[in-house]
Amino acid sequence: MARSMMRTVLDHPVHSLDFVKVTESAALAASRWMGRGERDAADGAAVERMREALGEMEISGRIVIGEGERDEAPMLYIGEEVGSGGKEVDIAVDPVEGTNLVANGLPNAIAVMAIAERGGLLHAPDTYMRKLAVGHKAAPYVHIDAPVRENLEAVANALDKPINDVCVIILDRPRHAELIRDVRDAGARIRLISDGDVDACIATAIESTGIHVAMGTGGAPEGVLAAAAIKCLGGNFMGRLQPRNPEEAQRAIDMGFGDLERVLELDDLVRSNDVIFCATGITDGDLVRGVRFFGNQARTHSILVHSSGTVRFIESTHRLGARPTGR
Ligand code: FBP
Repeated sequence: MARSMMRTVLDHPVHSLDFVKVTESAALAASRWMGRGERDAADGAAVERMREALGEMEISGRIVIGEGERDEAPMLYIGEEVGSGGKEVDIAVDPVEGTNLVANGLPNAIAVMAIAERGGLLHAPDTYMRKLAVGHKAAPYVHIDAPVRENLEAVANALDKPINDVCVIILDRPRHAELIRDVRDAGARIRLISDGDVDACIATAIESTGIHVAMGTGGAPEGVLAAAAIKCLGGNFMGRLQPRNPEEAQRAIDMGFGDLERVLELDDLVRSNDVIFCATGITDGDLVRGVRFFGNQARTHSILVHSSGTVRFIESTHRLGARPTGR
């Protein structure tokens, strides 16, 4: 079927820019808490506004990745139905990706959301995931099970760069000591970050960031969000669940992950070929700028990508007190 004849999650009556209003709402709410040292308050404000904004959308949405299970999260819990009715979609959200970043006023905090047709996004358990992400040029040449040096050499070849020009982004955690040593031994450079591996993974798929590879272990739900963005932008993302204890392992098994060793490839994490991903900056970052307040207005900066390959950067000005217009 010709692309123009296909119905997509972008179709009327929901305009794709409406999705940006949702992340804009969350980012505006969270940004009020920037640098105040209160990560839960920042998250709570963003969750509330994001849920309100989702409630106004003409969709029948189901949260597949959200703030937790129903008994642990009052809003945006897994399985919650959102929207005022319309096309059935699955939604993955993280109203504040990088709660510590907001609390400490550090860069790269974003509000994020991915939308796909029903069943299109993996319902990942709330555990860790080992991750590998690269942009489109290196995509076919890396594998999560390959040795670090081999992957970095493959990336350097694909990008036609010496290995010491390759930049790898890694969460600064004790569990990554060996990985960091291996990357340095291979001769690549490292950007250590304190939080925010969704932003980090996505940065590998956008050439202007100067970040070529993301490696290491972070949240599994964040892995699905990053995979959705990379599926739209082009690139590769591979993951493997890493339960932290037997209870988490059992939970993953109960959720249908029979083989915890299985490599989760891009199409396992994001089954649908009709996906939208959007993110709005809370603090300034590699992908998007953070919220700026001036007078009685605020400016937001967002990225909106669709699996058709369209990438939009959207700057919006909002009159404070009014709902974000998003366009
Ligand atoms: P939150 O926004 O939920 O605090 O997550 C931030 C984050 O850095 C994620 O980007 C990452 O996947 C995860 O936490 C890493 O977890 P941990 O801090 O336990 O290493």
